[in-house]
Amino acid sequence: MLDNSRLRIAMQKSGRLSDESKKLLAQCGIKINLQEQRLIAFAENMPIDILRVRDDDIPGLVIDGVVDIGIVGENVLEEEVLDRKAEGQNPQFKQLRRLDFGACRLSIAAPRDFDYQGPKCLQDLRVATTYPHLLKRYLAEYNVTFNTCLLNGSVEVAPRAGLADVICDLVSSGATLEANGLKEIEVIYQSKACLIQRSGELSSDKQALVDKLLTRIQGVIQARE
Ligand code: PRP
Ligand code: ZN
Ligand code: MG
Repeated sequence: MLDNSRLRIAMQKSGRLSDESKKLLAQCGIKINLQEQRLIAFAENMPIDILRVRDDDIPGLVIDGVVDIGIVGENVLEEEVLDRKAEGQNPQFKQLRRLDFGACRLSIAAPRDFDYQGPKCLQDLRVATTYPHLLKRYLAEYNVTFNTCLLNGSVEVAPRAGLADVICDLVSSGATLEANGLKEIEVIYQSKACLIQRSGELSSDKQALVDKLLTRIQGVIQARE
């Protein structure tokens, strides 16, 4: 049975944000026993449940009000918002604060020998990406239209596999592009992790807990600066 009195926080189960998210919650004094295969973990010392899911699912869980708080990459969040708007919805949530980790950029990358002369070169090409809406918004500024090859993983192998001409994917160290013979040709979005809350009122107990966590997060981030 769902216990609605406990604050529900969604974080990435495994990936670029998971370790830092875990660390942040621990530094806020939340004692959680994150057992490897568990979807839900319960805080021992506060009325908090941690939901561990795929990063791509977090914006939707917050927007749909399934969880109260989410730690998510701005890139994934913005893509979900654009996707829902494209479907005629009006997604609502509260931006609580930007966090100090998870920095990465969403970039267009092409095979190393691609002769890149600016966005116009991309007209009518096929682009493999997990972020079609962010890409579309960016290229629309240049009146460039493209074909999408929608992939949720292994985006970087698409050109070699003959599935796409170029890709649009997250870059942090650049090692993935390098290892796949690709070069970054256009940065389209700069992202960091952020904290979001579902829209609508929380119970006063939950809101007080969120306020307390925010104060602690503020302290943790300031101490790291
Ligand atoms: C991103 C991206 C690349 C990698 C790039 O994946 O899709 O695979 O990171 O990082 P690098 O420049 O340091 O090599 P992410 O970690 O977000 O995982 P996901 O796509 O499975 O969510
Ligand atoms: Zn993902
Ligand atoms: Mg990846």
